[in-house]
Amino acid sequence: MAKICLCLTGKTIAEDLALVEKYRQYIDIVEIRADCLINSEVDELRDFPEQAGLPVILTVRRMIDGGYFNRGESSRIVLISKALAFPKADYRKNFTYVDIEDDIDIPSIEEVARTFGTRIIRSFHSFNGLGENFLSRVESLYRVGDEIAKAAIMPAGIEDVRKVFAAAKKLQGRDFILLAMGDLGQCTRILASKLGSCFTYTSPVSHEAKSAAPGQIDPVMLNELYHFRDITPKTAVYGLTGWPIKTSSSPQIHNTAIKKARIDAVYLRFPSETLDGFMKFAVEAGISGASVTVPHKETVLSYITEKSGNIELIGACNTIMRLKDGWLGTNTDALGFSASLLNIMKRTDLKRRKMTVVGAGGAARSIIAEAARLGAKVLVLNRNLRRAKDVAGRFGFEYAQLDEAQNKRIRKYSDIIVQTTSVGMEPDIDADPLPHYKFSGKEVVMDIIYKPSKTKFLARALDAGCTAINGYDMLFRQAKLQFECFFNTPFPE
Ligand code: ATR
Repeated sequence: MAKICLCLTGKTIAEDLALVEKYRQYIDIVEIRADCLINSEVDELRDFPEQAGLPVILTVRRMIDGGYFNRGESSRIVLISKALAFPKADYRKNFTYVDIEDDIDIPSIEEVARTFGTRIIRSFHSFNGLGENFLSRVESLYRVGDEIAKAAIMPAGIEDVRKVFAAAKKLQGRDFILLAMGDLGQCTRILASKLGSCFTYTSPVSHEAKSAAPGQIDPVMLNELYHFRDITPKTAVYGLTGWPIKTSSSPQIHNTAIKKARIDAVYLRFPSETLDGFMKFAVEAGISGASVTVPHKETVLSYITEKSGNIELIGACNTIMRLKDGWLGTNTDALGFSASLLNIMKRTDLKRRKMTVVGAGGAARSIIAEAARLGAKVLVLNRNLRRAKDVAGRFGFEYAQLDEAQNKRIRKYSDIIVQTTSVGMEPDIDADPLPHYKFSGKEVVMDIIYKPSKTKFLARALDAGCTAINGYDMLFRQAKLQFECFFNTPFPE
């Protein structure tokens, strides 16, 4: 399985050793980035492996490869040579690996390394995509003996990440490290053991030292959220796709439940601007199922070969599962919404209830279809009237422009008011989608936003005495249902 390597980018050896101690239980090896050390510390480098008490990679990264070394190539060679020299009889006191870029050719360093058992990691970095012939470029890194090939690329899109997975399949049986940098490539770091990489590189997010490389994940998060050490080539992979998806509670909810239910699976984020890119990637990476979020919930319908539940009527799908040939699609947003609403209302249906839905986007579609199924009558308000008409029309519901003129109408539909727009979401927390409406206190109010936990809109409803809830309960309930679809087992409480 892939080992967890902590990248040390401290200015001093003492700073690096403190990090080794802090994270020792979460890591297997360390990489000392000597390019980050201040000049006066460099002479102490030779003793670092003994002090660290873990296998150490020696790396002196150049600026062109994303590092910080700016003192010229000959100083760099001297630095590496001195650190590898004077080998000790106990191999644990020597550097276990040395990272050498593929375009440098210094036989003396390589000879020292080979003679004294320091393995060479032959690396290349690309900050603008994969380039042509990625696989043959990686294969050309293997020169002599037991070298490890390492390629780190900044993907231009998820298609590049797909190609990294494809290349890894061709390299099975050899020692390599393939990774895509940045947020898009984070899955190559978390799934290193599935790719077949020797190591995954991590760095502490709270660390004040220089960043080691874009997209690296915190070692604690890698272990505690993603259970990295439990991931094997057999582990089933699930995840969330959408754009953008920088923050989401779904990995937390799913991975915690996966661990509790003792399932061999992992759930991660797969941000993708295009859904088509994600669908191709999912096949290549062997993804078993995915949560689909904005803006792909509607477009995903065209990829679904088997439909479950009422996704046709809703016109949106948030859950897909891989079939032998194609994808099964279902919608757990709708049931998550109704479970959350009925719970606070202590009811089992919405018969004779009148509801205002603010917004007519993807989330509103699920909510409106579910309200119709449960017997409510709905007024749909939206900034864009055509969208409101489109959604309301499917069920014969009323619709109107989202403006002050509708206050009277809202009163008529005020047993329940559900806010589904993004207005009031962080960072724009002072915005209110319905500022002109004064709550009487009798309305049951739901705002599907959960960051912040209390929007201005929700706070006004609570102040007026309404029964009111934010969107976290809905999110959690839909995730529970999704978990049950994915794994065909009850969600562990
Ligand atoms: P989701 O799937 O989260 O509903 P969406 O499909 O993009 O996302 O829908 C966003 C909703 O928020 C829409 O109803 C949108 O209104 P328009 O259809 O008029 O675009 C609404 N929305 C977003 N920003 C808004 C704003 N500043 N004022 C009013 N409504 C807004």
